[in-house]
Amino acid sequence: MEKLIIAIDGPVGSGKSTLARRVASLLGYIYIDTGAMYRAVALKAIRRDAPLANSEALASLAEQTRIDLRAGDGAQQVLLDGEDVTAAIRTPEVAQAASKVAVAPGVRQVLVAEQRRAGQQGGVVMEGRDIGSVVFPDAGLKIFLTASPEIRAERRWREHQQKGDSIDLARTLDEIHERDRRDSERESSPLVRAKDAVVVDSTAMEPEEVARLVVMLAQGLTTAGKAS
Ligand code: DC
Repeated sequence: MEKLIIAIDGPVGSGKSTLARRVASLLGYIYIDTGAMYRAVALKAIRRDAPLANSEALASLAEQTRIDLRAGDGAQQVLLDGEDVTAAIRTPEVAQAASKVAVAPGVRQVLVAEQRRAGQQGGVVMEGRDIGSVVFPDAGLKIFLTASPEIRAERRWREHQQKGDSIDLARTLDEIHERDRRDSERESSPLVRAKDAVVVDSTAMEPEEVARLVVMLAQGLTTAGKAS
């Protein structure tokens, strides 16, 4: 059967990772979380005390960085210059820094080229902010996943609670608004819905319902492709 590139974009906390991971597992595809790449560059920048507003410095840092994404047991393993940073990139500090690093056009250029290399064979579910609009504008299936800011903040907050991090729900909501603004207003590849993306609002849906819907869409496309 033809193997698609499935692009999943949407704002923070919309459920992209859960959806992309589940769809990849149901279809036997590879799962790629591109946000992890921006987070890895951000972690390196923090560790080196690199100024997060200096695009050129960040771009050259990204050029000198090796990021490997490996399919792990459920979650994807992230290696930064050979070091396992899977857990280290999931802190609120790195999340905020990642949205600043992602503003730098040079960083985006480096990471988008790697993402294209990783996905070009198809059979991949790639999630991010610009996958359907910039990385793979010809992707076979594009999903734009949304949910209300309140439910997105609650999901993020629950994730942190489960990990034992005590964070404030109101502060999480503020941070979501702030990251939404930065992700949507940046000049280079802002978060936008590709014109041909299917919009799915997950506010009142269970994760499994969303995954089944996307798998049905993917199967419809591959079957239609075979028939024609
Ligand atoms: O999905 P995430 O929260 O792990 O992403 C971290 C940051 O990286 C987020 O602020 C948006 C940015 N990002 C991006 O600009 N483009 C992508 N394709 C993926 C993430």
